[in-house]
Amino acid sequence: MQTFDFRSDTTTHPTEKMRQAMASAEVGDDVYGEDPTVNALEQKAARMLGKERGLFVTSGTMGNLLAVLAHCARGEEAIMGTQGHTFLHEAGGVSALGSVVIHTVPNQPDGTIALKDLENALRNPEDVHEPISRLVILENTQNACGGVPLSLEYTESAAAFAHKHGLLLHLDGARIFNAAVALGLPASKLAEPADSVTFCLSKGLCAPVGSVLCGNATLISKARRLRKMLGGGMRQAGIIAAAGIVALDEMVDRLAEDHRRAALLAEGLRSIGKVHLTKNSPQTNMVFFKLDESVTLSMQEFLEAMKQEGVLLMDSGPGEYRMVTHHDIPGKAVDVTLAAFRKVLG
Ligand SMILES: Cc1ncc(COP(=O)(O)O)c(C=O)c1O
Repeated sequence: MQTFDFRSDTTTHPTEKMRQAMASAEVGDDVYGEDPTVNALEQKAARMLGKERGLFVTSGTMGNLLAVLAHCARGEEAIMGTQGHTFLHEAGGVSALGSVVIHTVPNQPDGTIALKDLENALRNPEDVHEPISRLVILENTQNACGGVPLSLEYTESAAAFAHKHGLLLHLDGARIFNAAVALGLPASKLAEPADSVTFCLSKGLCAPVGSVLCGNATLISKARRLRKMLGGGMRQAGIIAAAGIVALDEMVDRLAEDHRRAALLAEGLRSIGKVHLTKNSPQTNMVFFKLDESVTLSMQEFLEAMKQEGVLLMDSGPGEYRMVTHHDIPGKAVDVTLAAFRKVLG
C-alpha cells in the first residue's frame, strides 16, 4: 500500500533534477568561500529575498539562531510570539548558546503580534534592572497559528514600530515562499521591512538539506563567523547547495498546487461530520482539525488507525491534528485520504 505522509513538508524528497544537479555540482571549500555552487545559491537567495547577502546554513533552526546571536549581545532581549517556532521548537538555543533573553508575547489567531503587546514588552533602557530590548521576531507563514501568511502591511507596521524604538526585526521565513505565493507578492517584498530573514530550502521546496539567512553584509559576516563557531562551516557543501538552486529555480511557483490540494482536502474533511477544521484552515499548505467529541478513539489510536490506511498525520497539541500538503502528496492522495477518514471514523 502506498503511504501518504502529511506530517510535514519537511518529509519531501529531492526531485530527480536535484539529484542530477547534486551529482554534477562544481564544488570547492566553502569555509574558504571557494565553493562556486554555494556562492551561486547564496547570491540567488539574497536576490530573491531582496537582501545584500546570503549565508547557506544547515537548517532553519541554525539560520534563526545565527540571526539572533548576530543581532543580540548576551543578556539582551528578543521579543517573539508564544506560538513562534524559535520559542517552541528550537531547543532554547538563543538562550542556551547566546544568553539571549526570550520575551514572549501572544500571537493573535492571525499569526500577528499586536503592536500594543510589543509596546508593553519594551524595556526601559534607563533602568539598570531590565535587560535591553534588541530584537523582534516574526514568522511568515506562522506555522502554529495555521500556516498563516502575514500581510506586507502588518510586517511593515511591526518593522516601523521596532525601528522607531531602536530594535531590529528578524523574520523566520521558513515558509516565506508559501506566503509569497498565497499573497501574490514577491518574497523580496515580504522580507523588505525585516533586517534579516531565514528561509528553508528543505520544506515545500523539496531540497534535502539547508536554509539561507539573508541580510546586509555586516550581519552576514558576523553570522558567518558564528556559523563556524557552531560547527556549521561545511566544506564541499556545493553538493547540497546544488539542490537548493533547483529548489529556487523550479519549486517556488508550484507551491500554489500544494495550497490548492490543502483546500481540496479541507473541503473534503468539512463534509465529514466528525471532523472540525480549526485555525481557519487552510490558509496555505496546512490543515488543522479536531475530531468530534463523539469519537472515542484516543489521539494515538486515531493516528495509528490512519497509518494502517496509509495516511500519516501529526499530533499538533491537545486534541488537534495537522496535515501538510507538499510535492510528494499527489492529487489522488486527497481522495484516498478522505476515504481513510471515512473508514476510520465510521
Ligand atoms: C516556522 C519554522 N521555523 C523554523 C523551522 C526550523 O527549520 P529546521 O527544521 O530546518 O531547523 C521550522 C521547521 O519546521 C519551522 O516550521
